[in-house]
Amino acid sequence: MWRPANPIRHPLPEARWPNADEASRSRLFSPVRTGQVTLESRTWVPAMVPWRATEDGLVTEDVLDWYARFAEGRPGALVVEATGIRDIPSGPLLRIGHDRFIPGLRRLVETVRQKSQGHTKVFIQIIDFLRVNRRPEKEKYFDRFFDLTCQHRNRLIESTGDSKWRDAGETEARDFLKTAEDDLLDQVLDEREIESLRFGYRERVTDMHLSHIRDLPCVLPDIFADASVRARLAGFDGVELHYAHAYTMASFLSAKNDRPDGYGGSRENRARLPLEVYRAVRERVGSDWVVGVRFLGDEVIEHGNRIEDAIFFGVEFARAGFDYLSVSKGGKFEDAKQPKVGQAVYPYTGQSGYECMPTVLSDKRGPFGRNVPLAAMIKRAVNRAGYSTPVVTSGGIATFDQCEAILQNNEADIIGAARQSLADPDWFLKMKTGRGSEIRRCSFTNYCEGLDQMHRQVTCKLWDRVDLDEPAITFADGGKRRLIAPGWDGKK
Ligand SMILES: Cc1cc2nc3c(=O)[nH]c(=O)nc-3n(C[C@H](O)[C@H](O)[C@H](O)COP(=O)(O)O)c2cc1C
Ligand code: SF4
Repeated sequence: MWRPANPIRHPLPEARWPNADEASRSRLFSPVRTGQVTLESRTWVPAMVPWRATEDGLVTEDVLDWYARFAEGRPGALVVEATGIRDIPSGPLLRIGHDRFIPGLRRLVETVRQKSQGHTKVFIQIIDFLRVNRRPEKEKYFDRFFDLTCQHRNRLIESTGDSKWRDAGETEARDFLKTAEDDLLDQVLDEREIESLRFGYRERVTDMHLSHIRDLPCVLPDIFADASVRARLAGFDGVELHYAHAYTMASFLSAKNDRPDGYGGSRENRARLPLEVYRAVRERVGSDWVVGVRFLGDEVIEHGNRIEDAIFFGVEFARAGFDYLSVSKGGKFEDAKQPKVGQAVYPYTGQSGYECMPTVLSDKRGPFGRNVPLAAMIKRAVNRAGYSTPVVTSGGIATFDQCEAILQNNEADIIGAARQSLADPDWFLKMKTGRGSEIRRCSFTNYCEGLDQMHRQVTCKLWDRVDLDEPAITFADGGKRRLIAPGWDGKK
């Protein structure tokens, strides 16, 4: 995991918890409208992938248990993890790319309704992503993936001073490259080939030589719209279009997108497909159902989007009619660490990943509420443009005073807490009922994120080894970790 230079270990902020009366008068526990839906409070569990679906992307009992546990804490809204919109295998991640996924998702919605006793609205985050291959073994790369051209031959001659490479057989050239030092490979291979060799092949939205990439603007609006219709049929209160982090739609928005077909270059062009997708979705689901968006306040990569871009997109999204704007930060492939051979590059391992899920080992600013200024700037611009679209902020928010200050200062309208809700799914309810002193506080050290990175079932280190002899609990790792936080007896 990336860390700032000379990191400072920050203590958790002092926490003062309200009594039930103060909570009932707080902004945090006041209602807020997202489109046609009113959330009972401004509390929000953002999307978190728990790696619990089947290999075919279906809802399992473990998925139901995971969301049931969050629902017991009765957040105003719960956003179901990034769910794939295409009907293609993508490992144990939820999918919504075919009608066969609807029954399972319907059970998920019913579970949240029942466990929250109708207090929690449930949205689903829908995502498109491009191909990312695992890092190959060097031999395999040169045998199977490498396309030897005359440019390579010329560069081989230049860098070795040996003219034999002009006519050498393919096998001889490949065998030579397999054993070549990195310095020589840097001279012979181009940038993308080096990336494919050292990180694994990864598609980009700018790969215009690939017809399926060229065609994204034609196909994505319908695929997103079909998935949204399924979400509505499954009973969700709304859909969240995933335009954040390392995935297709964020890559269209990115300042690095220089597609020459009217979907890249200027901010207006980069926003074009995201807006077309929104309009296709809205047309199909109607105006009485929530369509929200998650996007980045800052990409935190070289030549990437900054807050000025995000402000422009936020205002355009509000103008188009999105029902909420959820602001995240970073989480990109561009600065990710090199994966081990056989593993795929993971977009939360570099600085941009750190900024997405900051830890207590931080710079002077520290991790707490670190991303709030981005949401605040977007909210100010959106409001100034005449829109009241609610803005959701998240990133190191885990005390009542933090939440209240953000809301009172008009920096955001809704408080998202991912890791704190994982550490203690009842924490919103504990605050509301004056039992904040019982909250299990997240230590912001990202054990959960480490599991996510290894595609292992996500749990929290504060509870996954606790009360393992409790009857009827489910486990990961052959009984070493419980999958769900222990229950709390304080529900009213
Ligand atoms: C295990 C894990 C999985 C996550 N999965 C998603 C996801 O599916 N979609 C998404 O937009 N963000 C995802 N995130 C990011 C969170 O939604 C959130 O933005 C981030 O953790 C910062 O908020 P926090 O400080 O409240 O945890 C994930 C975070 C964690 C820890
Ligand atoms: S594992 Fe660590 S960072 Fe993750 S929720 Fe638990 S305490 Fe927080």
